Amino acid sequence: MLAGTAGPWHIAPVDPGAKEGEASQIPAIRVSMMPADTNAHGTIFGGRILSLIDQAGAIGAHRIGARRVVTVAMREVVFKEPVQVGDIVSCYADVLRTGRTSITVKVRVIAHHPTDVHHPIEVTDAEVVYVNVDDHNRPIPLEASPM
Ligand SMILES: CC(C)(COP(=O)(O)OP(=O)(O)OC[C@H]1O[C@@H](n2cnc3c(N)ncnc32)[C@H](O)[C@@H]1OP(=O)(O)O)[C@@H](O)C(=O)NCCC(=O)NCCS
Repeated sequence: MLAGTAGPWHIAPVDPGAKEGEASQIPAIRVSMMPADTNAHGTIFGGRILSLIDQAGAIGAHRIGARRVVTVAMREVVFKEPVQVGDIVSCYADVLRTGRTSITVKVRVIAHHPTDVHHPIEVTDAEVVYVNVDDHNRPIPLEASPM
């Protein structure tokens, strides 16, 4: 049995999120980039990163109690550095603000080579707005969202 596990199955605790005003230290998502994730030039396709941003932000939105969310807006995304096959991409999600039905999440994307954790590359960041919806995809107030 692995050290620190209570039994044959060990479920990691859910990231409770950062304290107010602080940035998350635990990524919402961490993924190894594969050849299938590349564009025509051999680096990672921007759309793949956008997909990860969207997923990570939704995880952040659920953390504050949203039950079912749809993405309504993704604010300017500037890719500062390319991501390579084999890189590990981490997406950190922090809720910036909430409205009546909406949640705005900042997602930071960092890449690193699997054997070099000391040189993280800041790939991009984005603000993503989600709307809390009912089973018919109609906006519902956050406090009305059944858990
Ligand atoms: C998201 C959606 C349910 C909102 O419907 P709507 O009729 O515009 O709802 P509302 O006008 O009541 O707005 C709901 C919330 O979204 C916010 N919102 C709407 N458009 C927005 C925009 N362009 N940018 C930021 N927030 C926006 C509103 O400010 C409101 O927030 P609040 O309640 O916290 O004040 C609807 O537009 C939709 O279904 N969009 C498609 C979602 C989707 O499929 N996403 C995946 C993309 S492929």
